[in-house]
Amino acid sequence: MATEFDFYSDEFQLDPSHKFQEMQEQCPFHHSEKFDWYSVFRHKDITSIVRDNETYSARFGPGPDRATAESAPVLVSADPPLHSKQKKAITAAFNPQTIAAMEPGIRAFVSQRMDAMAEMPECDLMVEIADQLPMWVICKMLDIPFDQDYEKLLMWVDAIAGGVFSDHDEEMHQQRLDMMTNVYNYFGPHIQAKIDLDKAGKDPGDDLLSLIVKARIDGEPVPFNHILSFALFLLVAGSGTTTTLIGSFFNRMMAHPDQWEKLLADPALLDNAIEEVLRIDSPVHGLFRTNNVPVKLGDLDVPVDSKICLMWGSANLDPEVFENPLEFDITRDAKVLRKHLSFGTGIHACIGGPLARLECKVVVEEFLKRFDGMERMEPMVPYPYPTLHGPYKLPVRLTAKKHAA
Ligand code: HEM
Repeated sequence: MATEFDFYSDEFQLDPSHKFQEMQEQCPFHHSEKFDWYSVFRHKDITSIVRDNETYSARFGPGPDRATAESAPVLVSADPPLHSKQKKAITAAFNPQTIAAMEPGIRAFVSQRMDAMAEMPECDLMVEIADQLPMWVICKMLDIPFDQDYEKLLMWVDAIAGGVFSDHDEEMHQQRLDMMTNVYNYFGPHIQAKIDLDKAGKDPGDDLLSLIVKARIDGEPVPFNHILSFALFLLVAGSGTTTTLIGSFFNRMMAHPDQWEKLLADPALLDNAIEEVLRIDSPVHGLFRTNNVPVKLGDLDVPVDSKICLMWGSANLDPEVFENPLEFDITRDAKVLRKHLSFGTGIHACIGGPLARLECKVVVEEFLKRFDGMERMEPMVPYPYPTLHGPYKLPVRLTAKKHAA
């Protein structure tokens, strides 16, 4: 039975969870006549599609629009064997030692922001910390100046991420293309300077971008346009996603003071609490694959080359995997909790997951050193485009800690 599913409605963006449940029960495979793409809602179906890279290709991009043959196949848009070679080239930037080495810098940045927030103490949590930290981290990784370029980068990422799911909207589509041109013009000379150093036998640096410049795939340097796409993808993939995770953490805690009290009483629950926020508020609703052969999804005959959206956010609310899925419970069994699909699964599973978790953890830890809690000043404003899920604006009043640590 076909059920209405409007991915672009404000209603869905404000409360996707009930819609996801309805779809799981009534229409686990959906075809949108309007946009001509398919959606998959149940955990087991999504998992089996993600694991079948032969049938379901990533090559045509993670969004609903079909990436053209000229666009560079990079990571999330690459299939094996190229994908594994590219991933190998960047693994060192995401190994546990590298992530651990980033922690002091992250903590210093967060401490300084939190001290400023303590002086306010009414603020928008998104503006003061959730938007800033992930962008600061990405700037370090891509070796670009945060202080100088933050506002500009934030605006670009907003327009590009927003536009990924909005190609049917002419204005947004054009805006996205314009912003991408800006980003390419911004990164082009920066990347070229690193390539020139590498060619001259000099070390371009030990940041992630330099790692890609120094990498050799099948004995060849990574082509310039691929490095550009790497940079653009990392900028977008690593910032807004982590921003919404941090925002959702505080948003959830304000909606569930009993869980906040539990965390205050036992801060060792923090890792689990972050995982539960990831589960219940998947920062990315869903991403796409394209089928290489005709397939059948439930009763639907899906022609070859169709765009199929895997709804991570829906899988996370599947009662076959998570008991009482709509209940926010930071004491859920950690092993079950880790079955959430917010970071995807299989070969394309998010390589930045541990970094995102660390960023959120440091924010909460530094928050707990200074504040007892927070209360809403105005209702949360959700992210305005269906690319991401979580707060866009989160105005709060902070309660200073009675006995500062
Ligand atoms: C809460 C934060 C984050 C969420 C929810 C998230 C979500 C995801 C998801 C769902 C995928 C899988 C894509 C697919 O299967 O099509 C993915 C892939 C990826 N993410 Fe993240 N991400 C986050 C943070 C980050 C960060 C901080 C970085 C880097 C700094 C990052 C870099 C990547 C990369 C490089 C891939 C592609 C992996 C591949 O194709 O092999 N992500 N992410």
